[in-house]
Amino acid sequence: MKAIGFQQHLPIKEANSLIDIEIECPAAQGRDVLVEVKAVSINPVDTKVRAHGSDEAEPKIIGYDAAGIVVEVGDQASFFSVGDEVYYAGAINRPGSNSAFQLVDERIVAKKPARLTFSEAAALPLTALTAYEALTDRLHLTFDAKSNLEKTILIIGAAGGVGSIATQLANKAGLTVIGTASRPETIDWAKAHGAHHTINHHEDFRQQLEQLGYDHVDYIFCLNATDQHFDAMVDVIAPQGMICSIVETDQKLDLSALQQKSATFVWEFMFTRSLFETPDMIRQHEILTQVATWLDEETLETTVTQTLIGLNAANLKEAHRLVESGKTIGKIVVEQQ
Ligand SMILES: NC(=O)c1ccc[n+]([C@@H]2O[C@H](COP(=O)([O-])OP(=O)(O)OC[C@H]3O[C@@H](n4cnc5c(N)ncnc54)[C@H](OP(=O)(O)O)[C@@H]3O)[C@@H](O)[C@H]2O)c1
Repeated sequence: MKAIGFQQHLPIKEANSLIDIEIECPAAQGRDVLVEVKAVSINPVDTKVRAHGSDEAEPKIIGYDAAGIVVEVGDQASFFSVGDEVYYAGAINRPGSNSAFQLVDERIVAKKPARLTFSEAAALPLTALTAYEALTDRLHLTFDAKSNLEKTILIIGAAGGVGSIATQLANKAGLTVIGTASRPETIDWAKAHGAHHTINHHEDFRQQLEQLGYDHVDYIFCLNATDQHFDAMVDVIAPQGMICSIVETDQKLDLSALQQKSATFVWEFMFTRSLFETPDMIRQHEILTQVATWLDEETLETTVTQTLIGLNAANLKEAHRLVESGKTIGKIVVEQQ
């Protein structure tokens, strides 16, 4: 089958950073399903895995978002039948979606939203899982909007891939959503996707929040530059508030700074459940099913902003280049021809 992979971790401009290859199509066993990949989306994790590491003995296939059709079902898999249209993010420690067919454990797969095209659906799994897990499993929020009406959340990096769905979900949970965005087009996008207010992540958080009438926020969801924003987060988090970050740091964080406020700092890593095969791994199937229902009910919308046609090395290189710019709005999708 056709796939796109690499053996050397190279800058995207290098010819061999991503290459078209032919590999053997795997067979579904156990709880796996084999999916014919129709569309994938590109996340910063793709670019990080591609760019860093030692040479690979075999071509490495990455890609952590897909929508497609189930073509084979493992002997212990029971959630799906051949022909089902599905969407999923997959696992960081297994071959990814940049190939014609992919094996994925059924516990982290859900039926694709019926209303959405494969491309519109492929934009969502990784970012929706991240945002949903952060809000519910890490920050202990519920989607019972009444219980959160007096609460505020600051979402740092509101117009990116994760931000575009996090603002929608936080809005759905009844929170007052303050997103950060630094350009007219990202400010407009964040406001159109659930942010009640925006502030600029390159300027002073406290001053801007006070201008909006807030002297603190109850929750912070940090989607960019945790090191850069840590002091400002400590400053504006409410006493007993909660901060969740998804972005690794270069420096050690001074958690003591949060002690006086009894504030919580928690990580979200979307791959934790599949990486450790946690007993509650099936929650990702449940979350994606819930998100699909909301997408079909039109109370959430897809975040795709750009679609490249043809799942090949040339288009994936272009998508990686755009994601590496750090200025993406919403999501970039690459669709099978
Ligand atoms: N832990 C996990 O499970 C997990 C899951 C998903 C993603 N991540 C990580 O989360 C990060 C964001 O992912 P993403 O897909 O949302 O990225 P993305 O789509 O590339 O984010 C682009 C956005 O980042 C904003 N931005 C740029 N510099 C910023 C800064 N200094 N502070 C705040 N915002 C800034 C930009 O807004 P402006 O143009 O307005 O400046 C742009 O809209 C990545 O590092 C990714 O690897 C982690």
